[in-house]
Amino acid sequence: MPSFSLTIAASLALVSLFNGVASFPSGNATISSWAPNQSNISLKNMFTSINPPNTARGFLAASLSTSSPNYYYSWTRDSALSYRVLVNQLRSGANSTIDGYLQDYVAFSQNSQSVNTVCNCLGEPKFNPDGSSFSGPWGRPQNDGPAERASTLILYAGSSSNTDLKTIIYKDLDYVTTVWDNQNFDLWEEVNGRHFFTYMVMRRGLLDGVDYATKNGDTDKASSYKAVVANIESRINSFWQSDHITVTIDQASGVSKPSGLDASVLIASNVGSRADGFFTPGSDKVLATAVKIEAAFANLYNINKNKADYLGTAIGRYPEDVYNGTGTSTGNPWFICTNAFAELYYRAIKEWTDAGSVKVTDISQPFFAKFDSSATSGTTYTAGSSEFTSLVNNIANAADQFLSTVHYHQHANGSLSEQYNRDTGYSQGAYDLTWSGASMVTALNAKAGNPDL
Ligand SMILES: *[C@@H]1O[C@H](CO)[C@@H](O)[C@H](O)[C@H]1NC(C)=O
Ligand SMILES: *[C@@H]1O[C@H](CO)[C@@H](O)[C@H](O)[C@H]1NC(C)=O
Ligand SMILES: *[C@@H]1O[C@H](CO)[C@@H](O)[C@H](O)[C@H]1NC(C)=O
Ligand SMILES: *[C@@H]1O[C@H](CO)[C@@H](O)[C@H](O)[C@H]1NC(C)=O
Ligand SMILES: *[C@@H]1O[C@H](CO)[C@@H](O)[C@H](O)[C@H]1NC(C)=O
Ligand SMILES: *[C@@H]1O[C@H](CO)[C@@H](O)[C@H](O)[C@H]1NC(C)=O
Repeated sequence: MPSFSLTIAASLALVSLFNGVASFPSGNATISSWAPNQSNISLKNMFTSINPPNTARGFLAASLSTSSPNYYYSWTRDSALSYRVLVNQLRSGANSTIDGYLQDYVAFSQNSQSVNTVCNCLGEPKFNPDGSSFSGPWGRPQNDGPAERASTLILYAGSSSNTDLKTIIYKDLDYVTTVWDNQNFDLWEEVNGRHFFTYMVMRRGLLDGVDYATKNGDTDKASSYKAVVANIESRINSFWQSDHITVTIDQASGVSKPSGLDASVLIASNVGSRADGFFTPGSDKVLATAVKIEAAFANLYNINKNKADYLGTAIGRYPEDVYNGTGTSTGNPWFICTNAFAELYYRAIKEWTDAGSVKVTDISQPFFAKFDSSATSGTTYTAGSSEFTSLVNNIANAADQFLSTVHYHQHANGSLSEQYNRDTGYSQGAYDLTWSGASMVTALNAKAGNPDL
């Protein structure tokens, strides 16, 4: 009998664990039914930015807007993160006709690596529609670009027989091993210094490169990439400042950010972490930083004051931002930054569910206390338990509040510009920003329990 009841108890535990794992929280029903349509619209809008008429093969416009602002350039970063969305689509079998676009991206990448650039380096930030490099004054180099491109192309290499890939990937990663600790411009192109975001995507690029080189039997490459990772990790650890990850250290020039708070830290976790717990979306320092960033914006923008309960906090790049989309006056919330919160929360839920539990620490307690008032340091939530289920349901609903904010402020046709006005909520800045579309698709894939690689 004891062994019989034990078996029943064990099976019940298994069943409830299975249920916990199987039922990824669905969040807000209205947002859940909006999501598949919006994902299609955002993908479709992304395609209009690729290979517009009379441009070099693989040119991906950051936006089709050619004046006020002119974003009709292919930024290495925007392209890598946008094409990565397409690689994920290809990998998940959602759209098998994408391969041609990715072949074009390979050709564009190869060209970008060989044309003359002002910095005479692979960190040149943007390229003209004809594939030549932009040669006006700009914040250069931006050394995150080659690392992001390498990660995207390595992911693509898993589904492609394109023989140019290897040379391009190694060229980018060899560059990263040389420049990884140099001061350079941040992803917002405004600050020269050392950046959490840039180190995170470099670390991912190199670790992706270790796997890729090992698979290809290129052991010299694998060990050269691996050797730099430990140094990058120790740099990354140094960004922690008692209750948040700061955005930049060793700043040489550029805008002043006394708060140190910047949504790029969360974007870094979404696009630059690997499934190893190192500054992943579900890890304590990242979650603590999310709490501080949200609080900073909650009091800053008029649209966040007296907003409806179902809306989440509108999130901008950083509180001190003054870029209004065409010039400088006052900064606004951005779609990619608001989407980043939803994506972070859903990735965190997936991470804890896969791990089977999550433990609250002194550092993450302020985050968990928002969703369970009884959360204290040391509390463990076990996947499948009612406490875990209730916690992740609350977090999923909060994630969908951020998506409700995006839904509310986007154009009626589903288009996403760069920003939305801090007072009126109307779209502002470059229209149909390709990266806004990409961030929408990745947030919605995370919501569906299938975060992009
Ligand atoms: C989204 O696009 C896919 C692929 O074309 C299609 O199967 C699906 O029905 C679309 N969903 C919606 C809600 O439009
Ligand atoms: C599938 O990819 C093609 C480009 O190859 C694109 O034109 C089409 O809109 C995509 N379909 C969906 C549903 O995303
Ligand atoms: C943005 O700033 C520029 C330069 O100060 C100004 O001319 C423009 O009116 C501002 N745009 C908006 C929408 O506030
Ligand atoms: C769910 O989201 C919709 C759309 O944003 C909103 O109208 C509704 O109030 C939300 N429901 C809840 C329970 O928050
Ligand atoms: C998809 O969204 C567009 C734009 O909001 C809307 O016009 C269309 O009716 C929606 N389609 C579905 C199937 O919900
Ligand atoms: C969506 O609507 C906005 C505002 O009317 C318009 O400017 C934009 O061109 C439209 N986008 C698409 C892809 O139709």
